[in-house]
Amino acid sequence: MKILILDGSPHPNGTTSLLRKAFAEGALSAGHTVDTFHTAKEDLHPCLGCNHCRNTGDGCVYKDGMEKLNPLLLMADCVVFSTPLYYFGMSAQIKMAIDRFFANNQVLRAQKKQAVLLAACGDTDSWALDALDAHYHAVCHYLHWENAGEVNAIGMYTPADIEGSAYLEEARALGRSLKEK
Ligand SMILES: Cc1cc2nc3c(=O)[nH]c(=O)nc-3n(C[C@H](O)[C@H](O)[C@H](O)COP(=O)(O)O)c2cc1C
Repeated sequence: MKILILDGSPHPNGTTSLLRKAFAEGALSAGHTVDTFHTAKEDLHPCLGCNHCRNTGDGCVYKDGMEKLNPLLLMADCVVFSTPLYYFGMSAQIKMAIDRFFANNQVLRAQKKQAVLLAACGDTDSWALDALDAHYHAVCHYLHWENAGEVNAIGMYTPADIEGSAYLEEARALGRSLKEK
């Protein structure tokens, strides 16, 4: 299976980087291929809502980092959303890429894909990730993508918090468990 990780964190060595790397280790050990797209590092622009993509069929007005992401996205059998919790939602960096799916809605909705959520937050409240999780499920529902699993790591402010936690093994096991459908 071709797996694409959308990395939503600006921290290359942060909390969610440990989660996504553990997940990738598991996936690679099961024979899958893994590409990672770092939304915080790429030249991405927020959707203008100009409908150029719909009106012209020429794609987005912005010829930016999405030119690199789109082929990976269209080829992927599984898309992994890896994000820190920012003010009770996904980070703006990953949201910007998700909004830009808009230009390829029709194709993406018709493709059979699996999805995974890897999320981390600092708070220990059990509800802290609820809004982010609801958003993830709505995206899967709309795109007709199957949720293949989630790691919702609460109480993880820093990489030191998550190192040695059960969440990393959870992520590794999830990567290992993915199966072509
Ligand atoms: C702008 C910003 C907003 C945040 N908002 C929340 C929040 O609403 N709830 C929470 O529990 N943690 C929040 N955090 C903490 C991060 O989710 C947490 O530190 C996470 O582990 C960072 O992951 P990273 O190192 O992969 O970027 C926020 C951090 C930042 C920088």
